[in-house]
Amino acid sequence: MNIVVTGATGRMGKSVIEEILQREDSTTISFATSQKNKDELSKHSLPVGFPIVNPIDFPSQLQELEPDVIIDLTVPEASLFFTRHAAELSIPIVIGTTGFTDEQLTELRDLSNKIPILFEANFSRGIASIHLAIDAISGILSNYDVELTETHHNKKLDAPSGTLLSILDTIKKSRPELESKHGRSGIQERKSTEVGIHSVRAGNIRGSHEVLFAGNDEMITLTHQAESRGVYSSGAIDSAIWLTTQSPGWYGFKDVLGVSK
Ligand SMILES: NC(=O)c1ccc[n+]([C@@H]2O[C@H](COP(=O)([O-])OP(=O)(O)OC[C@H]3O[C@@H](n4cnc5c(N)ncnc54)[C@H](OP(=O)(O)O)[C@@H]3O)[C@@H](O)[C@H]2O)c1
Repeated sequence: MNIVVTGATGRMGKSVIEEILQREDSTTISFATSQKNKDELSKHSLPVGFPIVNPIDFPSQLQELEPDVIIDLTVPEASLFFTRHAAELSIPIVIGTTGFTDEQLTELRDLSNKIPILFEANFSRGIASIHLAIDAISGILSNYDVELTETHHNKKLDAPSGTLLSILDTIKKSRPELESKHGRSGIQERKSTEVGIHSVRAGNIRGSHEVLFAGNDEMITLTHQAESRGVYSSGAIDSAIWLTTQSPGWYGFKDVLGVSK
């Protein structure tokens, strides 16, 4: 398997690279990084002996490297840039980047007519289980209040997290009337149709999500806590391996796991 990892000096890029190098089933790896010079790169202690691709030369170097798949966890503009070139060269791409606008997502979806694209806000099996649990219980808790809280490190740019938004989508399948209420202040009564959304940013927390249902003198919480970034990178690599055997289309981690969200 020949994999290109973009955003190689980012937190997730590094984690994906570490995980690939630990696996025996991955043979070749290349890094794409926007770090401009050797001095900057040397601060990131990337493993040596692997091709390093600069985004400026990305199209030509991609053609040369002929990867089976690209794994991208960067920022939306960069993901779009990488995906456009992947589509030109018919290379499948796994995208774990979050924070896309609706317009950017539409462009990505259009590109999936040309290549297999797996787009996933959270590569954790635990979060996949939370989606399944919500599907199973939200029908019988249909009149309970729902509050969603996500907690991440203080460098995370987008809020609320892509994972929280995907959890919200799952809840809305059985509660389409719910309207997001981002934080609260002042004096106001809680409406039964609101879903509270809370984003906490602190320290270097890997990622934590809590779904709270409350009503009828009881409360139910579903909590997921990622203990390391390896949770996500192993899911991203499993997805990449799976994606190399797929036809052009739009996929999610649920397809890799063989479950529906
Ligand atoms: N799907 C999941 O399971 C999951 C899990 C965790 C995080 N995420 C998401 O993954 C993304 C990355 O998270 P992170 O914590 O790794 O962020 P990060 O540490 O800030 O890394 C992002 C990397 O993207 C690259 N980059 C940034 N701007 C760029 C540009 N204009 N052109 C090309 N490359 C650029 C940079 O790497 P280089 O300088 O090396 O190019 C940067 O280090 C975020 O959207 C985050 O929400 C998803």
